[in-house]
Amino acid sequence: MKKLIAANWKMNPKTPQEATALFEETVRVANHIDADVVICPPFQYLGLLMDKDRGSTMLGAQDVFWEQTTGAFTGEVSAAMLSGEHVKYVIVGHSERRTILKETDEVIRKKVQAAIAEGLTVILCVGEPLEVRELGINVAEEFVLSQIEKDLEGAKIRDEENLVIAYEPIWAIGSGKPETPENSASMARKIKEYIREHWNVTVRVLYGGSVKAENAEAFLSEHDIDGALVGGASLKAQEFAGILKATS
Ligand code: PGA
Repeated sequence: MKKLIAANWKMNPKTPQEATALFEETVRVANHIDADVVICPPFQYLGLLMDKDRGSTMLGAQDVFWEQTTGAFTGEVSAAMLSGEHVKYVIVGHSERRTILKETDEVIRKKVQAAIAEGLTVILCVGEPLEVRELGINVAEEFVLSQIEKDLEGAKIRDEENLVIAYEPIWAIGSGKPETPENSASMARKIKEYIREHWNVTVRVLYGGSVKAENAEAFLSEHDIDGALVGGASLKAQEFAGILKATS
């Protein structure tokens, strides 16, 4: 399987002009590498960017509502609205939504199912908080597998197009202090085993949390790490280009 590099722009950048410039620069580099690249801008820019030339670069959304099609749900966007030829991926369960917006595993589970039912590839984010990690790597693994168990309960995962898992230790996100590639690879192995045991499918597992151009290669050269989910560094075209180049 090719490596997958996903850019999570979060609530950035401020203007459509900046979004277009960042998108175009990223696509220019992505066209020359042999990896899958997906850019997840805010909803507001998805419509704008889907009309641009993007070669093989794919688009993803940062969230989705759990009712599949249409209805009286002010402010929400459905999986049916997102799916189509333009948007292929959707991030679900990012730790910022779990903590700031108080999304529960039940909410995440419903979103995962709605997105898969509409043919989107879910990038499910999981990861432990610092107080859990401080209890040891085994406790962190238990925590992450239990998140996956709750978030994927009843999910119809038939192949690797349905699901990607992003392992993002919460303490590593935006902190400049990533987990080590070795520990992340070991977590990725555990996650893959779990998914294989329950669905008989091998999915890609990404690492996320302070991935930068200077450390990308160390993560990507781990056999069990199938790519990266990149926040802050995806907003700087040069820095992100460095991460993309580390895939080859
Ligand atoms: P970061 O964010 O790369 O800025 O640490 C990763 C994420 O939140 O997906």
